[in-house]
Amino acid sequence: MGEQEDSSLPPHVLIFPLPIQGHVNSMLRLAKLLCLAGGVHVTFFVSDFVHRRLLLHASSSLRHPSLRLQTVSDGLPADHPRSGASVVDIMPAIKNVTAPMFRDMMVNSDCLRSCDRRPVTCIIADGVLSFAGDFALERGIPLLYFRTVSACSFWACFCFQELIDAGEVPIKGNGMDLLVKSVPGMEGVLRRRDLPSFCRVDDISDPIFQLANTVTRQTPRAHAVILNTFEALEAPVLCHIRGPMPNLFTIGPLHSLLNTKTANIAPAASGSFWEEDRSCVKWLDSQPEKSVIYVSFGSLAVVTREQLVEFWHGLVNSGQRFLWVMRPDSVAGQDGGSQVPAELAEATEERGYIVGWAPQEEVLNHPAIGGFLTHSGWNSTLESMVAGVPMICWPMFADQTVNSRFVGEAWKLGLDMKDTCDRVTIEKMVRDLMVVRKDEFVQSANRMTQLAREAVSEGGSSYCNFNRLIEYIRSMVG
Ligand code: UDX
Repeated sequence: MGEQEDSSLPPHVLIFPLPIQGHVNSMLRLAKLLCLAGGVHVTFFVSDFVHRRLLLHASSSLRHPSLRLQTVSDGLPADHPRSGASVVDIMPAIKNVTAPMFRDMMVNSDCLRSCDRRPVTCIIADGVLSFAGDFALERGIPLLYFRTVSACSFWACFCFQELIDAGEVPIKGNGMDLLVKSVPGMEGVLRRRDLPSFCRVDDISDPIFQLANTVTRQTPRAHAVILNTFEALEAPVLCHIRGPMPNLFTIGPLHSLLNTKTANIAPAASGSFWEEDRSCVKWLDSQPEKSVIYVSFGSLAVVTREQLVEFWHGLVNSGQRFLWVMRPDSVAGQDGGSQVPAELAEATEERGYIVGWAPQEEVLNHPAIGGFLTHSGWNSTLESMVAGVPMICWPMFADQTVNSRFVGEAWKLGLDMKDTCDRVTIEKMVRDLMVVRKDEFVQSANRMTQLAREAVSEGGSSYCNFNRLIEYIRSMVG
């Protein structure tokens, strides 16, 4: 194919998420938005495993003539579960297998050139996949990093060196409640216990801490950075991020922007890796308004049997109705770990409903939902905000510890239950959220919904930033 023909073809964007649910969800939403905007070709890189899951459970989310999927190995053996606690195996496998494979594929395909596609004109890489960034920069392909986490958690990671220099990290058990001084923009909000969980190490030579530090610190090498957040939500932190990363596109909440662009005909397809059990929507249909607390700890978190039992007692003792997502791999230990404790069976039957995986966005928007007991994953947090559902946060790792602090302390959208897991606290917090302080939380949740919806509506900050992003991508082909 000659240069002449190439120049009539639209820009060709390669999008490469880390192949786990939370990352694929948000980057697939971005891919869909680019395709819907028109005049852009998208190649979306997924692992064979993720591809099979999406075809099985979310094939409609992949349908668009401008969207092409490219599969690559994630480096794990076929029989590896790739979920729950075993997901940690993915980073070394990607480094050893996926990274060289990606390079070969790109070189041998002349950067995915085909008769109807230019070679890739820009790469939007998940910020944790350094090898994709290395390749882009080596080849002179414009690089955009997409971070799936909140701006506040991204910025806290970006300041790791300053935290080390000030002796605030590593966190050595004591001083957990001291306020953090070395993260500009978060003074007075963040305590040491709220820092990203990677900081909870004895020594900064810890490999996970080092990885989080390195990948985050190299973000400014990209030509631009994309964040799934909106200006009104994280302005005090965004202005600091813009120092080292001035070309910043805040285009979230992406699921809501996608709904806006598809005219809310139906909630945009989710990209679920598991089959959604829709029977819970039917169950919700028969529950009173705002009477149910939705419980889900996302796609990765694993709880112990002891923690599960505490939650169960707390939920039952609160007297509230609950819809609980219990993934089959979400309880540590042997099979049967998630079985209902005998003494709670009757109350669970009366007031509870349990599924393996739910259509979360639809559930959160159901009138029967009055609260969300969440692990504070960033997608879940944004989905809850847009739906106007107050949260109880029980963060487990990574960015979640920061998100939960902001939900409770800065945005006043609920309660942070970090670092505790006992039935009495759970019962009290569920009652506080659903009954005692209900009006206060519903009011602030509604205010936040309004702000989020404004951001993605025509003329709003995320809406305009997304248009600017498209123009930027188009400008790269001259
Ligand atoms: C992880 C991190 O925790 C998160 O903070 C990071 O930004 C992305 O990677 P995860 O733990 O899975 O993701 O949480 P979250 O970001 O909340 O993503 C879970 C997604 O799965 C959400 O989009 C949610 O709607 C979806 N989901 C969850 C379902 O569709 N059904 C369910 O039953 C549970």
